[in-house]
Amino acid sequence: MSKADWSAIEALDPPHLEQLFKEDDGRVARLSLDVAGIHFDWSKTHLTRDAIAAFEKLAKATDLAGKREAMFAGKHVNVTEDRAAEHTAERGEGAEESVAKAGALHARMRALIDAIESGAFGEVRHILHTGIGGSALGPHLLVDALGREDSRYDVAIVSNVDGVAMEDAFKRFDPKATLLVIASKTFTTTETMLNAASALQWMTEGGVEDPYGKVVALTASPDKAIEWGVDETRVLPFSESVGGRYSLWSSIGFPAALALGWDAFQELLDGAAEMDRHFRLAALHENAPALAAFADLFYTQVKHAETRAPFAYDERLRLLPSYLQQLEMESNGKGVTVEGKPVGRPTAAITWGGVGTDAQHAVFQLLHQGTHLVPVEFIGVIEAGDTLAGDHHRQLLMNMFAQGAALMSGRANDADPARSYPGDRPSSTLLLDALDPHTLGALIAFYEHRVFVNAVLLDINPFDQFGVELGKEMAKAADKGGQSFDASTDDLIARAFG
Ligand code: F6P
Repeated sequence: MSKADWSAIEALDPPHLEQLFKEDDGRVARLSLDVAGIHFDWSKTHLTRDAIAAFEKLAKATDLAGKREAMFAGKHVNVTEDRAAEHTAERGEGAEESVAKAGALHARMRALIDAIESGAFGEVRHILHTGIGGSALGPHLLVDALGREDSRYDVAIVSNVDGVAMEDAFKRFDPKATLLVIASKTFTTTETMLNAASALQWMTEGGVEDPYGKVVALTASPDKAIEWGVDETRVLPFSESVGGRYSLWSSIGFPAALALGWDAFQELLDGAAEMDRHFRLAALHENAPALAAFADLFYTQVKHAETRAPFAYDERLRLLPSYLQQLEMESNGKGVTVEGKPVGRPTAAITWGGVGTDAQHAVFQLLHQGTHLVPVEFIGVIEAGDTLAGDHHRQLLMNMFAQGAALMSGRANDADPARSYPGDRPSSTLLLDALDPHTLGALIAFYEHRVFVNAVLLDINPFDQFGVELGKEMAKAADKGGQSFDASTDDLIARAFG
């Protein structure tokens, strides 16, 4: 196979999923893996021995191993921005210098947390974190997933520039007991800057004597934070080479580290590091991120699936689908190769999804009988998060297992087509032993590396995001006024603002 020769993959034509099971007793064992407290099962996808072999060849031709090592070594794999992508160094897996730098910045973060806990900031009961995109989705996921029982503070993560979001937090919090956390890699994002200014004003009006003294900045642009008015001692920097949607491991994870405690944050990093080592060392046919990416690519390239849908069968992971939307779509929603040529094939599937069992009663109709092929991913946790006497958790998991089985088997009803289920609909299942920081760290790192494998095999750069710039620029121009757009946009602006 020459470089990026997809012909063997495009020629794959596996039979019905049930047939694949009939043909191969060892299918479940061969397509299941256990890594870092997570059981992965791809047996209900159409991955076959031939498919895996064809993807392994493509991985070789596109130098996946070399590019993976280049990423871990801190080489400038983000070619369009001439930067490294060093999120793994944050968890101790990367170039020696970068790991040391990340460790020093973590120590600084930990010292600030110790100071807050020892009362150096006065009474702090509430954490008001403002950031957007990667500066909000990661910390929000962590706090929501792990902070239900153990959170030592009341945390609000406000991202939307709609003032309603900020006002909701103001209603809940006492300004005198609030720590304002401004999270922005660039420290220029208009939504975050406006939210931060409004929060500071609320603290001032609420009688906080030195509101700037209660502000912490999380950023890769410390000079800009200092210029904004944050004291240098309360700026927690992180490296420019950590991308926004890969940044929860850096100081962007501060609200989680503060609310859950340092030990929990360290466990999160350790779990991710365990997945890093697995990704780096395991052969591709038993490598979780690689197998997941092979299945992704089989469905997007061969079966022309336009979307994929993760469903978290655990209330604590309800924010996982929106976290994955940014990770997958901002990373791999690209149209050109790393050399800037048209990529010529579909790139990232559209990620959507939801929470089980709610989604079963809302969108699963389409999954079972609709005309779109949607690879589904189930994410469940063996250890229950609740303590209720009823059988909530058992029902939750049984529903998840039943949905995967039903999607696969279907049920023919020749007499009544409306009641017929075609089946042969793929799903993968991720079953966590427990939802703890270690396992969650490993889970998130798994998704990061899966995105990377997809990108390498598609020859695209997962680490830039120029697609978001044009809209930002035009919003700024519109806000300034005096600029004409198209007739429709001009009319809408005139209707809203006269
Ligand atoms: O607009 C997209 C984006 O740049 C994301 O990549 C990023 O996570 C988000 O905006 C927030 O950026 P910042 O952390 O610089 O405020």
